[in-house]
Amino acid sequence: MKRFIGILVALLLVTGFVIAERVEAQKTKGKTRAASTKHLMVGLVASNCGHLRKDLEAADINWDHITLHASLLNEAGHLLMDDGRCPDSEWAKAAKALQAQSAAVVAASTKDDVAGAKAAFTELTAQSCAICHTAHKPKS
Ligand code: HEC
Repeated sequence: MKRFIGILVALLLVTGFVIAERVEAQKTKGKTRAASTKHLMVGLVASNCGHLRKDLEAADINWDHITLHASLLNEAGHLLMDDGRCPDSEWAKAAKALQAQSAAVVAASTKDDVAGAKAAFTELTAQSCAICHTAHKPKS
């Protein structure tokens, strides 16, 4: 009986370890595509976020630039949910906030609503970048 319990505990530990490894791997890369999460962050998410921030602070508002960067952030919100990348509900919540708040920036741009676009951008960084990084970005 003791031996059986010992084997059972060992099996549970191994299973737990394998699942934890898979979740960890999931955060850094999807299942089939070439781009790592880091590639998406640097090349798509952070770059468009930085441009969007500057565009919203500019004295002379350029809505074409704003919709360009907000739309690409919207795509990024969808990509982060694709290819088996999403490990849990915090990730999903943050990716969906990226989709929703970037769409709100685009919607504000169709009405020349600078204050609305800025408010959506503030929500975007708080509900998306910050939430997902607190939960999933390795501390460096
Ligand atoms: C759904 C989760 C998620 C969202 C949303 C998210 N990130 Fe990330 N981000 C990560 C993870 C995970 C890493 C760590 C990747 C790694 O080190 O493999 C990361 C890393 C980064 C990095 C560091 C890249 C490097 O060179 O190490 C930057 C910059 C970054 N994110 C910017 C942003 C910005 C800006 C936003 C919001 C517009 C954002 N991220 C939204 C998950 C997310």
